[in-house]
Amino acid sequence: MSAKRLGLTVLGATGSVGASTLDVAARHPGRFEVVALTAHRAAEPLLALCRKHRPRYAVLAGCAPDSALERRFAEAQCELLFGAQALERAAADPACGAVMAAIVGAAGLAPTLAAAAAGKRVLLANKEALVLAGALFMRAARDAGAELLPIDSEHNAVFQCLGRAPLEAVKRVVLTASGGPFRATPLENLAAVTPEQACAHPNWVMGRKISVDSATMMNKGLEVIEARWLFELEAERIEVLIHPQSIVHSLVEYVDGSVIAQMSNPDMRVPIAHALGFPARIDSGARALDLGSVGQLSFERPDLRRFPCLGLARAALREGGTAPALLNAANEVAVEAFLAGRLRFTAIAHVIESVLDAVPSSDAPDLATVFAADARARRVAAERVAREMGEAA
Ligand SMILES: NC(=O)c1ccc[n+]([C@@H]2O[C@H](COP(=O)([O-])OP(=O)(O)OC[C@H]3O[C@@H](n4cnc5c(N)ncnc54)[C@H](OP(=O)(O)O)[C@@H]3O)[C@@H](O)[C@H]2O)c1
Repeated sequence: MSAKRLGLTVLGATGSVGASTLDVAARHPGRFEVVALTAHRAAEPLLALCRKHRPRYAVLAGCAPDSALERRFAEAQCELLFGAQALERAAADPACGAVMAAIVGAAGLAPTLAAAAAGKRVLLANKEALVLAGALFMRAARDAGAELLPIDSEHNAVFQCLGRAPLEAVKRVVLTASGGPFRATPLENLAAVTPEQACAHPNWVMGRKISVDSATMMNKGLEVIEARWLFELEAERIEVLIHPQSIVHSLVEYVDGSVIAQMSNPDMRVPIAHALGFPARIDSGARALDLGSVGQLSFERPDLRRFPCLGLARAALREGGTAPALLNAANEVAVEAFLAGRLRFTAIAHVIESVLDAVPSSDAPDLATVFAADARARRVAAERVAREMGEAA
């Protein structure tokens, strides 16, 4: 008799991580059954995925009920649900054992938390859940017995390097960063870079928001905050090194001087397959790493004048409470404005800094406080974007 298949729900199925997840799952039809797929508004791409992966149902979180669309999904033998509430139901559905949390941004917090509170195996790509509400999220996961498996390649690497080692044995972890497309661009040229240039990442193919975050290195700042909660490490024990080849995904240094690193070609299917199969190892489809062809691996310390967002994220982590939520909200507004051609690249950091200066942080005892801080930061950030545009005109 064959073993029972693991029910898998993919939140953010139409995105870059969603596509990689479905690619890995489809390589192992005897192991995984797709229960639900979700998107924000991308109805046609979601329908195409439903035809291919045959989930029991699908969710369009950002759309009002639409009977014509429902009929088209029904023709593909798939029920279609609408609205953000349906995301949380899908995340907690007893039919799924594992939830891939791959929605981009703060919108991922509530459904990812719902999966954790329902005691699922949570494959955590949505780092924003821990940035906004790290303490609350980790407590909910612990109380419900959820299993958190990191998908960010750096955190997945740390997870693999840590094994069962006790935290006292760890001297520090080093998160690597590619440095993005502007690692060597003269500083005076950064103000004029375009969204297309910012999204042309040298090593990874990713969604547009995280691509811009990689170019500013805010992505690494958010990852430092994520690592603080995921591995219960103080900020001082989390370092960042630029490693332009993106082969070493992170390192763990132990008190005895040993340093363990995890390596692979830069392909998100590697950490995804690790988490989907854990503790087994399953085929990811990624190309084998040939270090003889790679030749050289290099490392350098990040320059905070080039990457001020990294410094802002560290400052928000030190401040604690709602400060990381304020940082994240301001960054989301600024990146959206940059992608829409309404803000200069270098003004992203100005907007975030002025929001952190203007909006006081507080303790974050519950989600309502976190969401209120997020909303206030978004309002102030929108004003700052308008002011920057006025000054640039
Ligand atoms: N891409 C990577 O290689 C990578 C690596 C590590 C970590 N991550 C993290 O993984 C997450 C996803 O990144 P990505 O690059 O895959 O993003 P992406 O390609 O932009 O995809 C985002 C997904 O989230 C959905 N979505 C967007 N806004 C939503 C909302 N308000 N409510 C519900 N669903 C919404 C989108 O649906 P529509 O298609 O309908 O808009 C899409 O399915 C992010 O937190 C990112 O930091 C990504």
